[in-house]
Amino acid sequence: MSASAYVDEKRLTERLAAMARIGATEKGGVNRQALSKEDAAAQRQLVQWGAALGLKPSVDAVGNLFLRLEGADTSAPPVLSGSHLDSQPTGGRFDGVYGVLAAFEAVEAIVASGVKPRVSIDVVAWMNEEGSRFAPGMMGSAVFAGARELDAVLAVVDTDNVSVSDALASVRDSLRDVPARALGERASAYVEAHIEQGPHLEREGLTIGVVTGIQGKRTFKVRVDGEAAHAGTSTRAERKDALLAAIAMVQALADAMRDREDIVKFTVGRFDVKPSAPSVVPSSVDFSIDLRHPDSHVLQALGDRITPICEAHAGVCAVRVTELSTAMSLDFPEPMRALVREAAARLELAQRDILSTAGHDARYLHGVCPSAMIFVPSHLGLTHCETEFTSSSDLAAGAKVLADVLSRLASG
Ligand code: GLV
Ligand code: MN
Ligand code: MN
Repeated sequence: MSASAYVDEKRLTERLAAMARIGATEKGGVNRQALSKEDAAAQRQLVQWGAALGLKPSVDAVGNLFLRLEGADTSAPPVLSGSHLDSQPTGGRFDGVYGVLAAFEAVEAIVASGVKPRVSIDVVAWMNEEGSRFAPGMMGSAVFAGARELDAVLAVVDTDNVSVSDALASVRDSLRDVPARALGERASAYVEAHIEQGPHLEREGLTIGVVTGIQGKRTFKVRVDGEAAHAGTSTRAERKDALLAAIAMVQALADAMRDREDIVKFTVGRFDVKPSAPSVVPSSVDFSIDLRHPDSHVLQALGDRITPICEAHAGVCAVRVTELSTAMSLDFPEPMRALVREAAARLELAQRDILSTAGHDARYLHGVCPSAMIFVPSHLGLTHCETEFTSSSDLAAGAKVLADVLSRLASG
């Protein structure tokens, strides 16, 4: 029997429920931000489950956690599969953690099938995919892939001025028994299962999305500096109101990014006003920009307009725009997509090709080894919110496809 026959829907669902209790929010979601004590607890839970299955844990210098099912040829580069355990502050119960636990379930199914893989399989939880506490995200996979420098990532601070380096040390402390592994060891292939985070599969009554690629994204931080003044005594002519300047910039940017086809994604998700006191003219504003488009040329051109637009609307204030990350659209290799397509077809699961408009760690792994992604439906496409939902049977279906793809890759 193929490995997929050993995927256990109940076991997978129970593990997802156990993880959802770590950082559970009142409204049924999770708050398990990167390198928090909740993230550490989730990692410990994963290591514990791995130990029961005989998987060997290891952690690299940027905090990526690996659990290895050893293959017959220990010198061959492993097949990697996973996603992330961190969440948005009001995140759902599936984004990221599903990919890690689907990989774990797939490995457990491969063990149960009695076939020892030729090459090792590593279940991986990448550090800080979401980029909510420490921006930008996908830190672990980017450093693993050599796309970002370890030292630069370790120096990033959160809004409380805690560095990645310090937060990592606390997590590491709670995983003292887990051995270290070298950064960026070779990998032969990577497969990531994930909820779709869009409405298409559900709307079309399909179970599996064969992900064709990931749309491009550029992120920026903008700093607007004005001058604090008394709300009653300072005149309009005297003021350098950072908030009014920032609002003008955001409005002008939103207008510039507006396309008739509704394809451009432009988001200002963070907007921090200082000193944030009712009777003080705002002295500074920090805001974020997340810009996405599937056409890399359009993304490039639109992103290049951001600095001039901000400067044109700064008025008497000063503005500084910093680009945090630049990632153009990518296509996963067709032979990897075919593996997913064929596995889903053998399992008689209704499927379609689909572009990921959300970002994933697979973006960086794509630069390291042949990579693929498997999507399962998201109810109403709701995600990055506490109402995120996917049925247990769809979750299991994705894990079955993953189990067969991983056993193919690990035996080849
Ligand atoms: C990932 O969470 C993204 O923002 O696309
Ligand atoms: Mn995710
Ligand atoms: Mn996410």
